[in-house]
Amino acid sequence: MSFSDILGVSIGKLMLRSPIIIASGVWPMEPERWPSGIVDKVGAICTKGLTFSPKEGNKGIRLWETPCGLLNSIGLQNPGLESFLKNEFQMLKNCGCPLIFNLAFHREDELDLLLDKLSSSGFDGTVEINVSCPNVSGGGMAWAVDLMSLEMVLKKARAKWKGDIWVKLSPNVPDIYDSAIVAENCGADAIVVANTWLGLAIDIKKKKPVFERIFAGLSGPAILPLSLRLVWEATNVVKIPVIGCGGITDTESALGMLMAGASAIQIGTGLLRDFEVINKICGGIEGYMEENEIDSVKQLVGLAKKNHNIRG
Ligand SMILES: Cc1cc2nc3c(=O)[nH]c(=O)nc-3n(C[C@H](O)[C@H](O)[C@H](O)COP(=O)(O)O)c2cc1C
Repeated sequence: MSFSDILGVSIGKLMLRSPIIIASGVWPMEPERWPSGIVDKVGAICTKGLTFSPKEGNKGIRLWETPCGLLNSIGLQNPGLESFLKNEFQMLKNCGCPLIFNLAFHREDELDLLLDKLSSSGFDGTVEINVSCPNVSGGGMAWAVDLMSLEMVLKKARAKWKGDIWVKLSPNVPDIYDSAIVAENCGADAIVVANTWLGLAIDIKKKKPVFERIFAGLSGPAILPLSLRLVWEATNVVKIPVIGCGGITDTESALGMLMAGASAIQIGTGLLRDFEVINKICGGIEGYMEENEIDSVKQLVGLAKKNHNIRG
């Protein structure tokens, strides 16, 4: 049996050699900075959140460690899609696994412009529409929080984009069901559950909030149980694949996310601590599958749900 026979999964039109995807915003976009062999088991790589015009990002402190977590307030710093296509993309397109374009926008017409620019570059693959960035004013997370806005932008995007659309949802909503259903009804090929949770840190030496924008996005192991719950809930109401994201850092959390119903998983903060985490998790999943006589990752997906239902 080859590697991809065991670990391979398909999400929409994409065939991934493993269910592990690099989440947006945490991975160097210059392949010359990657240690050798580091992406050999990676299923796909999400780009940094790209906007139409370049963005400098937020002022002040941008990262703050919390017990078991990380708060970030990067504010979508990026070179803009045009520059990315001319520079980073030229090196990334031969990196050996699919590249997913994470697109962020403030105004509705910016998403149109991003999709037009991407099509005219010849890219017709998968886009991850980021309707959930908590660290920018206007737009950002607001798209996911307001269901009518979400529906409007996703319908327009669907009419324009022929490739697959993943929608990266916000956890900062009263419940995930509504946004998951809206995304599916608007023709999304998959949903990513989810982005970071809004949090706050206080610098007691300065006696004020750590971040200029006061609130920032919490990621890392601290949010794993919350992400597992959201994935469990989302997979109760949609048929499209749900990609689990939030707090996965080792084999156990990756397996838990698959068993909660995720068809694939994204890893962000875990990579900041250990570049090797994906190789380790893939090896761990393979070992678990062998021990438990499981032939394909598909059999793991939603297994905890099935077992819970069987036992009533
Ligand atoms: C430093 C940093 C930058 C991020 N930038 C983006 C981004 O540009 N676009 C996006 O959709 N998510 C971004 N995220 C969110 C991650 O992709 C991921 O959804 C989140 O961190 C939860 O996963 P984790 O707990 O594995 O990190 C960022 C997260 C971190 C920590």
